Amino acid sequence: MVKVTIDGVEIEVEEGTTILNAARQAGGDIVPPAMCYYTGLEGSGGKCRSCLVEVAAGSERDPRPMPKLMASCRTEVQHGMVVKNKTSERVIDAREGVTEFLLINHPLDCPICDQAGECDLQDLSFKHGVEWSRFEEEKRTFAPRDIGDKIKLHMNRCIMCYRCVFVAQQLTNKRVHGVLNRGDRSEISTYIEQALDSDFIGNVIDVCPVGALTDKTFRFKSRVWFLKPMNAHRDCPTCQGIATVWMFGNEIYRVTGRKDKYSEIERHNGKTAWICDTCRFETKDVAKWVIEGPRIINRYSVISTNHYTNENPLDAKKDPKKLQ
Ligand code: SF4
Ligand code: FES
Repeated sequence: MVKVTIDGVEIEVEEGTTILNAARQAGGDIVPPAMCYYTGLEGSGGKCRSCLVEVAAGSERDPRPMPKLMASCRTEVQHGMVVKNKTSERVIDAREGVTEFLLINHPLDCPICDQAGECDLQDLSFKHGVEWSRFEEEKRTFAPRDIGDKIKLHMNRCIMCYRCVFVAQQLTNKRVHGVLNRGDRSEISTYIEQALDSDFIGNVIDVCPVGALTDKTFRFKSRVWFLKPMNAHRDCPTCQGIATVWMFGNEIYRVTGRKDKYSEIERHNGKTAWICDTCRFETKDVAKWVIEGPRIINRYSVISTNHYTNENPLDAKKDPKKLQ
């Protein structure tokens, strides 16, 4: 076990743990945001820089500070390491810069985007963004691509986190999409127009931190905060059948995996509870689910408003400490 101090909180974690996961083990508001790291996806992280932290002391043996801010999702803790997250002005400044950078090409179409209310970039902007933009150039845009009848790709919103590529690589047996081109021309695409189609490919929707990949069977049906999220399960031969169903009255509008407070799919029975496409897209009949009860949304997000939560974003706005 190694001891690490993050924003004055001392914790002991297993050797090999990253700073981000050590902070998550401690919990609370010392946890850096993560737009590309995803626990259930091997190799994820290191792309977005939203999780940067200051390492004020590298370790007990070598207590020199690290000169540059470090990506907490990719940096392992050392015994005696001292990390500053929300207590570092450099980190807050860098995070504001990263947020501004991520928004350079991202369209501000939250009012018509299905991800609004549960978008990690929206939450990051709420905490670290500004109301204005210095970017005067034309935003980068892409021609629409059809990737099938279940999943909508809106490439202009993509922040190149690669999570969807890892889902296809690790959860399905035929990956047909990936990142084409380089630099500001990079795009998520299939090489020749192809539908994304395999039992678990719908999980790209759940892992996408923005509205670049959304559920066509739910598109424009309702704002998420008007729906009641319910924990539900069913006997499914393909997946664990553990899901959240989003209801309006007695109707199920959409089905998603159960996300924890870091917007990641929860683990059940020792495995990440990814749901299959049949549960997600084709099981909207209430009779096919056992409804367990209301789901507590404990993510810091507008989606928590009016739902079952103890973290209200409006309270956080009044308390600047919670915004860091
Ligand atoms: S489409 Fe979404 S999940 Fe895929 S790289 Fe872009 S932002 Fe990430
Ligand atoms: S979450 Fe660490 S770089 Fe994206």
